[in-house]
Amino acid sequence: MSPLSALGVFCGLFLPLSLSEYNTHNCIPRKSVLYQDNMKLFREEGICNYSTMLVREDLGLLLLGAREAVYALDINDISIKKSWVYWRVTKEKQMECTYKGKHAEIECRNYIRTLHKVDDGRMYVCGTNAFSPTCDYMTYSEGQLRLEEAQEEGKGKCPFDPFQRYSSIMVGNDLYSATSINFLGSEPVVLRSSSSALRTEFKSSWLNEPNFVYMDLVPESNNNPEGNDDKVYLFFSENAMEYDFYNKLMVSRVARVCKGDMGGQRTLQRKWTSFLKARLDCSLPESSLPSIVQDVFLLKNDDWSKSVFYAVFTPQSSLSDISAVCAYSVSAIGDVFNKGKFKTPVTVETSHVKWVMYSGEVPTPRPGACINNAARALGMERSLDLPDKTLQFIRDRPLMDEAVRPLTGGPLLVKKGAMFTRLVVDNVLALDGERYAVMFIGTENGYVQKAVNYAGEMFIIEEIQLYQTPEAIRTLRLSSSTGQLYAGSDFGAVQMPLSDCGHYESCLDCVLGRDPYCGWDLSTGICSAVASSSSDTNMIQSLKDGDISKCPKSETVKPENYTLVPGNNIKLPCHPASNLAQVHWLFLGQQLHADAKYYIYIGGILILNASASDAGQYTCESVEQVKSRPHTRTMAVYQLRPHTKAEDVEEASEMTTESPHSHNTPLPEVPQTLEPPLPPESWSVDSRVVGLQVAVALLSLMLLGLVAWNLYKRSFRNRSSENSGAGQVKRLSVDYIQNRTSVIKLLGPTPSHNANNNHHAVVAFKGNGEHHFSPGGNISTMDGLGYIDNESEI
Ligand SMILES: *[C@@H]1O[C@H](CO)[C@@H](O)[C@H](O)[C@H]1NC(C)=O
Ligand SMILES: *[C@@H]1O[C@H](CO)[C@@H](O)[C@H](O)[C@H]1NC(C)=O
Ligand SMILES: *[C@@H]1O[C@H](CO)[C@@H](O)[C@H](O)[C@H]1NC(C)=O
Repeated sequence: MSPLSALGVFCGLFLPLSLSEYNTHNCIPRKSVLYQDNMKLFREEGICNYSTMLVREDLGLLLLGAREAVYALDINDISIKKSWVYWRVTKEKQMECTYKGKHAEIECRNYIRTLHKVDDGRMYVCGTNAFSPTCDYMTYSEGQLRLEEAQEEGKGKCPFDPFQRYSSIMVGNDLYSATSINFLGSEPVVLRSSSSALRTEFKSSWLNEPNFVYMDLVPESNNNPEGNDDKVYLFFSENAMEYDFYNKLMVSRVARVCKGDMGGQRTLQRKWTSFLKARLDCSLPESSLPSIVQDVFLLKNDDWSKSVFYAVFTPQSSLSDISAVCAYSVSAIGDVFNKGKFKTPVTVETSHVKWVMYSGEVPTPRPGACINNAARALGMERSLDLPDKTLQFIRDRPLMDEAVRPLTGGPLLVKKGAMFTRLVVDNVLALDGERYAVMFIGTENGYVQKAVNYAGEMFIIEEIQLYQTPEAIRTLRLSSSTGQLYAGSDFGAVQMPLSDCGHYESCLDCVLGRDPYCGWDLSTGICSAVASSSSDTNMIQSLKDGDISKCPKSETVKPENYTLVPGNNIKLPCHPASNLAQVHWLFLGQQLHADAKYYIYIGGILILNASASDAGQYTCESVEQVKSRPHTRTMAVYQLRPHTKAEDVEEASEMTTESPHSHNTPLPEVPQTLEPPLPPESWSVDSRVVGLQVAVALLSLMLLGLVAWNLYKRSFRNRSSENSGAGQVKRLSVDYIQNRTSVIKLLGPTPSHNANNNHHAVVAFKGNGEHHFSPGGNISTMDGLGYIDNESEI
């Protein structure tokens, strides 16, 4: 777990206490689906870094590039390996690489980084090949994957360094790539490898220590009234040049080039004449520094001007753990490039250069524009015909003055906790005839967040744990035709369906799930996929409102009989279907509140030291709010009957004590996967737990303070270096907090001294940065971690 995810602690502890608008639902997915053993997984012994994917729906394959291997997997079940090729570095290459000071087993191997389909159906594959990037063609025929062994120079097409981000896209048979072209990784380039190869000017005003993230083509020549060209868009982050900042400041960028660009005649020979870039704006709460783009997905529309780029951002500073998704319309980006003002460098004082808005005359044709009807009217058919004035202007001023703003003014989704790494977006046709963009966002700890923005309301339908151990998701691919999502990590590739309507148990759960893929089928009485249902009138779905009024009256829940043994602690289980639901317990028509007698936790209620007066009917209700309308559902009813002598004492006590280890307890089975972490909201009903939260929060703050003070003292004593000061202290203290609080014992209610009634509660911080609250039993498994043993110590 990284220090960042440890910060996720604060999501649960502080947000319920703050009144920020982001506290509404932004951290909590409605459902949490934990890792399941039946997940379709592909990995092979001895092979790692499964980070490159190509979906070939035409061949029924998922091509998976790993370290020194490429696999052809069955697109419907990636655990089925149809064929594979190994592409290992030669001994000589590896030696050469180690002589240059690189690590033999880590850097001097062949990491497959590029997999593209070319027009004739073959594939183009490149690998880092021990810091000597190399490409080759690959075919799949008669069930066999084959490398053609016609190796080509891969410099500029694929990075030297396997740890460096890069991007590329195949347009027809031309490879557009954005990577470093030299061994040191210091010479960034945006390159088109084709008969008329083009590249960027090597100037820091064009690319300034960039981190390339994503490239895609927008076919803007289709039905274009201006006779404009297709464009390749590139997303990256780089060192800013437009800010005065004492330190290096990163900014996110979108850049684009025209497909028909052929370079200039004298100026910008064999260089892009259409390379324009602009800052991408996506402001995160709690941070004033520009956020950093991590991945992008182009949601295509038949009308290209309505296509939208979705991008995930993380903060510049490691002190914040908020990630976000912002979306940008192609037309908004186009407006900035086609109509916006430019920035220009001016020298202030001696040698300091400042970038300011250019307000002088802009030459015609407009610098950076593709060849369009207006240019053709001036007799310019190719970029080679462009006048020097236009070309010199763009060579010196590739940056636009204005930033590209998000489609909705701000982020579509904001989440605290584990950082977002990758995303894909599916365009889903719902029952109401509208299309919804469903985002699948991979995180640093191996979860996928499935989220939608309903008219400004951020909603995370569910989070799905794809890996048993926290693994950063390094690649995500979507296949709409098979309805599958593929994720790759260093450890292996996994597959998950885009939707699993079957896990919504009731009409209420199905409709409140607000999953565009699913609806409640009145004729069959199950939650099922919307597309597969022919008779729409029989389906209920209410995405924007979560309106359950059309749901059939739910059956009354049959009471279960429990036996009351005086003096025992009695556990009545109740698992709400949603993390967003609050649980209410009723006894004799009265709502129960947590106190010395009742211990209410995520999985149910504990009645402590029961006495005869506790006999009667207990009802567990879950209350879920959608658009401030509460929806109440009875989850369980228990009839607690006094123990009679006729009954077998042995059996009775087994039935009523809460030991989770006894298998013959008649507790209703709730699927493991649906057991949600305790949503912070539901804690707030329970004043006692809020009190505890405050206590833990204060404790964390005190620890932070103590550690910071300690470190401060130490660094004061040892040295007086200023530049690494505060940040480092905070970072270290975060590590410290993580180690200390990964298991925190909360004060339970008045302890009973019954030895086998261990009702202490444990808050364990799960990998995804959220906490998991579990009563009793689990404590023994955490003994080794050295948590505070005795309440008096808190
Ligand atoms: C490859 O995977 C290993 C773990 O299996 C990881 O330590 C390493 O950083 C990965 N390398 C790259 C280039 O991602
Ligand atoms: C609970 O006990 C009552 C009365 O003894 C009985 O009528 C009922 O069937 C029992 N319910 C269950 C679910 O066993
Ligand atoms: C349990 O309750 C009984 C009375 O109902 C009381 O005498 C006893 O002390 C209680 N035990 C504990 C451990 O609190």
